[in-house]
Amino acid sequence: MTRFKKIALGVLVVLLGMQLIPSKNNTAPELEKHPLFVDYPTSHTVENTIRFACGDCHSNHTEYPWYSNIQPVGMWLDHHVEEGKEHFNIDAWNEYTPKKQKHKIEECMEVIESGEMPMESYVKMHPKANLTEVQKKEIKLWAKGLIDSLDRRHHLPKEIRSDR
Ligand code: HEC
Repeated sequence: MTRFKKIALGVLVVLLGMQLIPSKNNTAPELEKHPLFVDYPTSHTVENTIRFACGDCHSNHTEYPWYSNIQPVGMWLDHHVEEGKEHFNIDAWNEYTPKKQKHKIEECMEVIESGEMPMESYVKMHPKANLTEVQKKEIKLWAKGLIDSLDRRHHLPKEIRSDR
């Protein structure tokens, strides 16, 4: 066997072995209503936009695409989901303090505005997540209303930038 063939065979064996690694770890059944949308009136439009643009990485339910069955793609996706949920989880909304809730919504407005979220690699594979200016505006209006409502209900300070 030539050296090249040995290397190619080695890579193939590793790739085949990798297929045995389990992935798809975020498979709680999708809730009829995510807790984030229960607390404050949310239009179906905004609810669906957030579900389709953010929900795969920021809820307890991911709609895994077919290519998630292929390693190392599956592991890569699971890593995004795990990290995404750590930062913000629309199903963990009720576990956040009002202060944290406000902070998270502020962060959402920021990352949508800056185009940081939804992640570019995700939008490429999910055209539905490519937010239009109108969708961004709708989310922003909703987010502002939610923040006002949290402020009023919990007498929160104006700016919260400290507790990440
Ligand atoms: C493909 C997965 C994915 C999608 C889709 C996605 N996110 Fe994220 N999100 C992440 C990951 C991973 C992180 C943490 C790493 C980082 O900051 O880049 C994150 C971080 C965040 C943070 C915390 C940012 C910070 O400054 O710490 C917020 C807020 C957020 N996402 C909101 C959203 C919103 C809103 C959407 C939908 C419009 C969205 N994300 C879509 C994966 C995703």
